This record gives sequence, structure tokens and C-alpha cells, in this order.
Amino acid sequence: ATNRTFTMIKPDAVANGHIGAILNDIIAGGFKIIAMKYIQLSKETAGAFYAVHKERPFYGELVDFMTSGPIVAAILEKDNAVEDFRTLIGATDPSKAEAGTIRNKYAKSIDANAIHGSDSDENAAIEGSFFFSHFERF
Ligand code: CMP
Repeated sequence: ATNRTFTMIKPDAVANGHIGAILNDIIAGGFKIIAMKYIQLSKETAGAFYAVHKERPFYGELVDFMTSGPIVAAILEKDNAVEDFRTLIGATDPSKAEAGTIRNKYAKSIDANAIHGSDSDENAAIEGSFFFSHFERF
């Protein structure tokens, strides 16, 4: 069935000038943009978004990195959206991401890994609702 995922183009990819190329890859991959915004996260907002990782050793660095510059947040729609988007972006660690994937092309490290993709339909709905109201979805 047609469904949705949530993404963020992370501060490294924005700072390195890759917003356009990444959006191009997303659209060429068959995803439709349902909602999108260009914003800078506060520590409070990033900390809340990543609350699920609060006990992980990388949590502090993750919040610092995700607040280091602006990001692009978006809700995307496609058949099999969550799984197909994770295929399009490649492995979390860019050194393990397959050739041609967004992280293979634009990411430098496991922290500065260019892009986020939801890991389940449930989290896609939670993450999308964290950033966007119903009035911001088209
Ligand atoms: P993402 O899945 O978008 O959200 C959590 C982020 O934590 C992940 O991308 C990585 O950028 C970052 N991270 C840093 N270290 C790790 C790790 N060891 N395992 C998973 N994610 C990590």
C-alpha cells in the first residue's frame, strides 16, 4: 500500500551544498513530497526527537551534531516507503553504504551521515507528527 516515511537532510549535507542533489535523488526514487521545512533544531527539540536514543553513548554527540546547523525535514510518500527509503539512503555507517546510495555519495561518518530515514511505519508517523501539523501536509 502507499504509505509514508519521514526524513531529515542533516546539517553536514546542508553545509556541504547537497540539498538539491539529495532532493533530486529522493524524487527520482519515486517519492512524493507531502510536507517540507528548512529549520534549525534547538537542543531541547533535538533531545526530544532522539529521546529513544537517550541511553546510547552517542546521544550527546548526536544532539550536538543535529543542532550544529539547519536541516531540511520532510514527509515522503511512496509504496513501501519506509523500506524503499532505507534502501535509497544506504547503511547508517556510510563506509558500509552501497554504491549509489545517498549516504555513500554524500556522507562522511556515522554521525555526519547526511540523512535520516524512519526505521518503521510506527516511527514514521511519530516523527512526521513531531515536525508537521495536518495543515502542513499536502
Ligand atoms: P539516524 O538513524 O538518523 O538517527 C540516530 C543517529 O545516531 C544515526 O542516524 C547516526 O547518525 C547516529 N549514530 C552515531 N553512532 C551510532 C551508532 N553506533 N549506531 C547507530 N547510530 C549512531
